[in-house]
This record gives sequence, C-alpha cells and structure tokens, in this order.
Amino acid sequence: MSFTIKENITWVGKIDWELRKFHGEEYSTHRGSSYNSYLVRDKKTALIDTVWTLFTHEFIANLQKEIPLDKIDFIIANHAESDHSGALPQLMKLIPDKPVYCTANGVKSLKGHYHQDWNFKIVKTGDTLNLGSKELVFIEAQMLHWPDSMMCYLTGDNILFSNDAFGQHIASERMYNDQVDQAELFQEAIKYYANILTPFSKLVDKKIKDVLALNLPVDMICPSHGVIWRDNPAQIIQKYLQWAADYAENQIAIVYDTMWDGTRKLAEAIAKGITQADESVAVKLFNIARSDKNDVITEIFKSKAVLVGSPTINKGILSAVAAILEEIKGLGFKNKKAAAFGCYGWSGESVKIISSQLKDSGFELLNDGLRAQWNPDPDAVAQAVDFGKQIGQQLNE
Ligand code: FEO
Repeated sequence: MSFTIKENITWVGKIDWELRKFHGEEYSTHRGSSYNSYLVRDKKTALIDTVWTLFTHEFIANLQKEIPLDKIDFIIANHAESDHSGALPQLMKLIPDKPVYCTANGVKSLKGHYHQDWNFKIVKTGDTLNLGSKELVFIEAQMLHWPDSMMCYLTGDNILFSNDAFGQHIASERMYNDQVDQAELFQEAIKYYANILTPFSKLVDKKIKDVLALNLPVDMICPSHGVIWRDNPAQIIQKYLQWAADYAENQIAIVYDTMWDGTRKLAEAIAKGITQADESVAVKLFNIARSDKNDVITEIFKSKAVLVGSPTINKGILSAVAAILEEIKGLGFKNKKAAAFGCYGWSGESVKIISSQLKDSGFELLNDGLRAQWNPDPDAVAQAVDFGKQIGQQLNE
C-alpha cells in the first residue's frame, strides 16, 4: 500500500492492524499502529524513515513499485529505534553507497543496533539538504524521545516530518486527522504523550517554542506513527504545549489492588467521600492488577491527584501496585498530589511504603495515609469516606 500526500510526496510505510503490544510488552496498542515512511521527490529523491524490521520485505517490495531503489538519492534516518530503522539493513544491502542523514547520536544508535558502517552524513539543527527546487531543513530533537531523535522540514510544501512527536498508535485506512474519530485520535495522542514523553516535558516545551520562533509555515505534520495532521496541524502543537505544562484535569485517580476485597472497599468508600465533598471532580477507580497499565498511566497523567492502595503482604505491597509505582517513578510526573491507603492483618507496612515511594517520585503527599485492619467494618468504611471527604475538600480549596 502507498498513497499520495502531495504530488511529490508519497507515503510508503506499513499499517500494522495486528499490533497489540509495542516496546516489547511495555505499551498497549489497542488500535494497532503504523510505521510511516515518506518518499519525497524533487530533482533528487529522499526517503524519510523506514518501517519496523518485521515488515522489511513488504516495505522494500512496496517501495520498488514506487521507484527503482537506485533512484533514491538520500535516506533520512530521523530516529534509530527499530520501528523506524528496522528495514535499513536490508535496504542498505541493496543500495549500499547511498548517504544516510542522521544526527551524531543517530550514527551511534544505528551502529549500535546494526553494526554497519554506512555512508553516514551527520546533520545538526539548521543544516539543509537541497533536493532541487525544495530543501529539507534538519531540526535535532534530542531526548524527544531518544538522544538521536530528529525532525525535518520540507520547504515549499511546508511539511514537518516530526518522527515520534505528535504521533499516535492508530491503524487506519484513512490516514489524515480529519478522517478519523476525533475521540479515538486524541485518546491515542494523549496516551502516547503520557507514556512516552512525560519525562521530557521541559524539553518538549522548549523545542516547540524554538521551532515556533523560526516562524516556518506548517501546512502539515507527518509523524512516524498514526495519522497525518493536515487539518489545523497547530491543534496538536497546542495540545503538546498544554500537556508539557504539568497537565492536570479536574480528576482524581484511585489505583489499587486487593486480596480479599478489603482495599477495594476502602477505594470505593474514599471515592464516595471525595464525591460528597466535591461534585465537580471526576473520580476514577482502577484495580491495577486488572487494568491496562498504559491506560492507567494516561488517567494518572490527566489527574491532579492519585491515591494508591495496597494491602500489606510479606511486609510489603502487592506486585501490581509495586509495578505501577515503578512506572510512575520513571515518568517523573510534576505538580500532582497523592495519598496511600490499604488494609492489613498484622504488620501493616503497605501505606508507609506507598507513601514513601510516592514522595520519592515527586508527589506532594496530602496526608499520612489511611490504614484499616482486617476487612473494613462499618466504622472503617465510614473512616474511609471521611478520608475521601477531607481529600476532596483539600483539593477543592
Ligand atoms: Fe516510534 Fe521511538 O520509535
């Protein structure tokens, strides 16, 4: 499959309808994904990015229907992660002398992945590549989200090839932002941001502002995953600026696991208390052992506070709660509040452990947490409702 974006630009990527996990098993992709590769034809021809390794042969066969491979003059490797560079080794066997344009870190990453000394051309921000009547302008995007990440901008057509930035894991036969369900599109875009880009929010903000300061007209943003932003591409730039600014909605996420339903009862009672104190706040409960962790991370990203609950087991916490706390720590959320809760039988360390981990992860603790021994009786449930009310009031002040 290929399709024409403009007379001189053809999409030659791969739509992966089957993908359900990405980054190994780390990232859920309920709606599949696409690996976008673009062929830009002028007096010279450039190929921007390739596809994931699994689809190498399909990609090259498809590309050959578009152009004899030796007519490709330049290969642009915006990012070395193998969902975009995976077809390069085979492609470079067929056209071994063609120059590969990438950042200095791109050379390190590509060599690290494939152990090949291709004809690398290192580029920096502001460097240009003349295609004939138009130019590609390179923009380094270090740590968005790898050290090697780069974007490029095509003059004349005013297209930003943004690589992972502004992408979404969506498979669609309709590859433009105005052709797909808007709720699905923005859900996948915010999930991508929350799970991949949160740690780099300061850099996202700075890079976007640096690029905006160049005053380049942007008619289209072509990311490396999902649909192309052709209808008002500024909308996703504005969303990224919002998301990069310690984003929070009027929402509280309650994330817990439970053994014999005691901690679940606390979670539900806390939710009831919050809602009694503040009717306007959205409260969402997730049994993390039964929920998709990337969806939960997205909801935490959208929340002004997260309450984390686990019963005590073996002087510790349940493994699903430990796993999400580790994930939260790595993402480095900013400007969010938190509290812990949990049932216990005898030693009862869980609340202290969770509170300590949340504090170390940068959350502001709302209190010392709520503990309930054995299965919560009506008094313990009432205490949990009060605990929720206090939190609802604190967060509403
Ligand atoms: Fe889509 Fe960072 O690779």
